Amino acid sequence: MTSQGRFFVTGTGTGVGKTFVTASLIRATRHEQRTVAAFKPLMSGYAPADPATSDAGVLSAALGRPLRPPAEDDGSSLAALEALSPWRWEAARAPSMAARAAGARSLAATRPLIVRELLAWCRRALEGPEDVVLLESLGGIMSPITDNATVLDWAEGLRIPLLLVTDSFVGSLSPTLTALEVLRARDVPLAAVVVNDVPGRSLPLPAEVTVQELRRYTPFETPFFTTRAFLTAWPRQADKGLKKA
Ligand SMILES: Nc1ncnc2c1ncn2[C@@H]1O[C@H](COP(=O)(O)OP(=O)(O)OP(=O)(O)O)[C@@H](O)[C@H]1O
Ligand SMILES: [Mg+2]
Repeated sequence: MTSQGRFFVTGTGTGVGKTFVTASLIRATRHEQRTVAAFKPLMSGYAPADPATSDAGVLSAALGRPLRPPAEDDGSSLAALEALSPWRWEAARAPSMAARAAGARSLAATRPLIVRELLAWCRRALEGPEDVVLLESLGGIMSPITDNATVLDWAEGLRIPLLLVTDSFVGSLSPTLTALEVLRARDVPLAAVVVNDVPGRSLPLPAEVTVQELRRYTPFETPFFTTRAFLTAWPRQADKGLKKA
């Protein structure tokens, strides 16, 4: 499988801007008249009555196919959601915790999560004909997805370049450097670290400052970008090969 134009979008944690960055990349790709697909294979904290505001809804809107609530849906929105985000849980927890907390009865997932099936599903998605395919992970790089696997195992299984999104505030250096060490130790290919200014963050640091600080503690070739710089570089980045963390 070629990894050209294929990216696994993960982050140092939840709420760092993975969906914001992925949706921005979708729009930038479409703006270049290139084709793009995007997926959020695992989605927890999903409210079935309000698909549009979910991550899958935000990505689908960026793809030009906004999702409608069940009451207004002729079935096409649910089908689009299924295609984009087949494993869904209502509880805002790691999937393994959501499954344990909610029990099978209130589980909104359409199927039980088995890592082997997740990887096979993702590989099929990545083999699509689009110029660019983006997979948004959930949570952070070491978020549990089953009782014995994390997002890192998922990324390692796919071996496509990773976009590591991190927010920019006084406390973001440690989780970002920790994530980079882990990626290096597991030899996961890294396309970019995207340092994102999440609005309303307490103790914010301008992303440019965070990038400068991160560079002091990492190999010189580590590909750091602010969100703005990454979006500017994106048409070239989309075709790029791999760099080590
Ligand atoms: N650079 C930005 N400019 C404006 N808004 C942003 C930016 N980055 C993030 N946001 C907003 O911050 C919130 C959290 O971002 P987002 O949902 O993309 O995080 P996430 O990493 O995808 O979270 P999750 O772990 O829940 O998937 C969203 O409301 C998003 O629109
Ligand atoms: Mg998200």
